[in-house]
Amino acid sequence: MPAPDLRPCPPPSPAVPRGRSAVLCGLAGWVPPRVVTNEELSRRLDTSDAWIRTRTGIGRRHFAEAGQATSDLAVEAGRRALDCAGGIAADAVVVATTTPDRSCPATAPVVAARLGLTGAAAFDVSAVCTGFVYGLASAAGLIAAGVAERVLLIGADTYSTIVDPGDRANAIIFGDGAGAVVLRAGHPDEPGAVGHFDLGSDGAGEELIMVAAGGSRQRSTPGDVSPQDHHFSMRGKEVYRHAVTRMADSASAALALADCKADDIDHFVPHQANQRILRSVAESLGLPPERCVSNVESVGNTGAASIPLALADAAARHAFKPGERVLLTAFGGGLTWGSCLLNWPVLPRVSHPHSQ
Ligand code: COA
Repeated sequence: MPAPDLRPCPPPSPAVPRGRSAVLCGLAGWVPPRVVTNEELSRRLDTSDAWIRTRTGIGRRHFAEAGQATSDLAVEAGRRALDCAGGIAADAVVVATTTPDRSCPATAPVVAARLGLTGAAAFDVSAVCTGFVYGLASAAGLIAAGVAERVLLIGADTYSTIVDPGDRANAIIFGDGAGAVVLRAGHPDEPGAVGHFDLGSDGAGEELIMVAAGGSRQRSTPGDVSPQDHHFSMRGKEVYRHAVTRMADSASAALALADCKADDIDHFVPHQANQRILRSVAESLGLPPERCVSNVESVGNTGAASIPLALADAAARHAFKPGERVLLTAFGGGLTWGSCLLNWPVLPRVSHPHSQ
C-alpha cells in the first residue's frame, strides 16, 4: 500500500513553554563488574586489540553475569540516581532499552517496584541507541504537562544477551550497562533545565539494525525461525554513514531551535557508538575534540545506557560546571535519531559508574 499523502506538520516552535520545565537533579551510572578486554575477545575470535582500537576506539566493555537481566542493571543505576537526588521518590519511571527482561510486560514496572516506587507510572521506551534521548523527551513532556512531578529515567541494556558471541563484527562493539537521571519540575532558566529537542526517524532503514525474530513479524515458534534470527544484526558500514550524518544534522537542528551556535556549546555528549563516529560528528559540527565527551574506550557501545553513562563518568570526574551548556545527540536502530540541549545542574557527588 503506498504511503498516504499527508499535509506536512508545521515546523517545531523554538519557544519552550514558559513556567514549567524538566530539571535534572540526580545522575548515576552502573556497569556490571565483569570486564571483557579486547585481548579476551581475540582469544576466541579472529580479531585483535589493534584492529578493534583502530576501527572503534574500544579497549574493553562490561558484560552482565549469566542470569543478570536488564532490570538488575537498571535498579542499580536507578537507586544511585535517586540517592544522588537526595533520596527522593519519583512518580514516574521510564526505562529506555532494546533488551527488556521480557517482550511482555515492560521492564519499567518491575524496576519501579524494586526501587520502592510501586504505584508510580512506569513504561518502556524502545528507540534502540536513541532511547535515552527519546526517554528524556517523554519525561520532560510528562513534567511540562503536569502529569508527573519527578521522573526517574533509566537507559539500560544488556547487549551481551542478544549479540552472537561468535559474530566478530558486533561482539567487539557492544557492552552492558545502565545510566539514570532524575528529573523534577522546575523553571526553564535554571541550571539543569532540559530542552530544546530534535527527534526523528526513518523506518525505511529498519533492516540496517535488527533482531529479526521474537516479535509479531517473525515469531519465536520452533521451526519458524533459526537461532540466528534471535541475534542482533547490523550492517556496519551503512550504519556508520547514517550515524555520522543523522547525528550531525540532528545536533544542528537542536542548536537552531535554541538559537545557538556550536561555539556556544561547552560539552558535546554523543551516543558512544564508536570513536571514529564521535570524531566525525564533532568535526562536522565544528567542535574541537576536547569538547567531545568520550568514554567508549572503557565501556564500548552500551545502547540506551551510553549517554547517561558518559554523563555520569564526566560528572564523577568533575568535568562539567553548573550552568555550562551540554548538547546530547544520539542515533540508533529504527532508524532513529535525536538531540537535546541541557544546562548543567548543581549536583551532589556523582559516584563513578565503575565503582561497585
Ligand atoms: N576483527 C578483524 N577483522 C574484522 C572484524 C573484527 N572484529 N570485523 C570485521 N572484520 C573484517 C571484515 O570481515 C572485513 O574483511 P574483508 O575485507 O576481508 O571482507 C574487514 O574487516 C573490513 O570490514 P568492514 O565491515 O568494512 O570494516 P569497517 O571499517 O566498516 O569497520 C565496523 C566495521 C563495524 C567497526 C564499522 O562499520 C562501524 O563502526 N560501524 C558502525 C557501528 C556502530 O557504531 N553501530 C552503532 C550505531 S548506534
